[in-house]
Amino acid sequence: MDSIKLGIIGFGTIGSSVAKILQQNGEQISQRLGANLQLLKVADLDITTDRGITFAPGILTTQAEEVLDSPEIDVVIELMGGYEPARTFVLKAMARGKHVVTANKALLALHGDELFSSAEKAGVALLFEAAVGGAIPIIRAIKESFVANKIQEIEGIVNGTANYILTKMSDEGLPFDQVLKEAQAKGFAEADPTFDIEGIDSAHKIAVLTRLAYGTSVKFDNIYIQGISSIRQEDIECAQQFGYRIKLLAISKFDGTSIDIRVHPAMVPQEKPIANVNGVLNAVLVRDDCMEENILVGHGAGGFPTGSAVIGDVVDIARDILAGCKGRVPPQSYPGNALKDIPLKNIHEIEGEYFLRFVVQDQTGVLSRISGILGQHQISIRTMIQPERGTEGGEVTLVVMTHQALENNIQKALLEIDALDIVSEKTVLIRVEK
Ligand code: HSE
Repeated sequence: MDSIKLGIIGFGTIGSSVAKILQQNGEQISQRLGANLQLLKVADLDITTDRGITFAPGILTTQAEEVLDSPEIDVVIELMGGYEPARTFVLKAMARGKHVVTANKALLALHGDELFSSAEKAGVALLFEAAVGGAIPIIRAIKESFVANKIQEIEGIVNGTANYILTKMSDEGLPFDQVLKEAQAKGFAEADPTFDIEGIDSAHKIAVLTRLAYGTSVKFDNIYIQGISSIRQEDIECAQQFGYRIKLLAISKFDGTSIDIRVHPAMVPQEKPIANVNGVLNAVLVRDDCMEENILVGHGAGGFPTGSAVIGDVVDIARDILAGCKGRVPPQSYPGNALKDIPLKNIHEIEGEYFLRFVVQDQTGVLSRISGILGQHQISIRTMIQPERGTEGGEVTLVVMTHQALENNIQKALLEIDALDIVSEKTVLIRVEK
């Protein structure tokens, strides 16, 4: 039987899971592939931590160069994460004619242009199914299954940590800080949760999906990103009262001219399927001209789900090697020369409905001052409530749901409102996504 030789760089949760799945399910993989996947090297600076797996002598190494220099290795699996030295290792591997599989969405989101053009130039595969949605096969779906479809919109819950926190806040009435601490204690959230809770991880993922869906490079710095750390229990309760659930959404909409790409918490109608994707689960909704909505739901993180997606990519490459073909599917879905430079919309250009939570002094005339400013900016109020719960010091909370409005007008109005002496805190804005 033929043998495809692999090297892993990065022996953490995913790297060790890939190795375990290869050991545990190796026989089945060989049967389905018609060849063996043989792990020749596993490199990491830390090879002493017990990862629950043992290797034959010589496989574990602290030298990534042993993977990159090995003339035998066909596929390099990059699972170290981060920008450097991951970028350098991936570029070196490809320049040496090795195919690459990575789960590194941050790397692809920021250095995609360089990496994809290097892969094309070297004539090697660069696959990354595990980078978005873990075990959800959304990359392959966009690149291959939906190749005939003109994608108009992608809407994803692509961060399990944030979804877990919002779900706990919604279902158990717990405050953000407490849920985050519990999630960290259980290992669902990183010790430094910034990328997950501030929406950066979701933005990396939607940047990658946008490139594949519309055939464009995406300037990461131009993506509007807002996380969930400002969401309070009051927002969750008001959302429920209005028939919504709050989700951290990664959104990418293409109207044929420009792309509206953003990450922020959003109120989603409770009856929508995506509003009911809870806990650590991820979901990606795709809307296009051929199907109304297609939603893929599954495990977006964790060693085995992510590891299985990595091996799926390895098998894809191995099948091409065995069939003697390459370049069958362009790494970024479109051939490099077909890539366009589609402009990104500024957040101020979008239109939608808004939830606004004001904390104001409990005085006569406050309501009319706020509604007056909203009116001056062409913002029409759909509903206004004053939740019973008061805050200390004679402050009250006022909640406004608007009709369709231009974000630019909303932002201008909030600047004026937040400068009023009767407003005690920065107003919370949550966009409504229907
Ligand atoms: N940290 C991510 C999440 C998983 O919480 O979903 C890896 O992308």
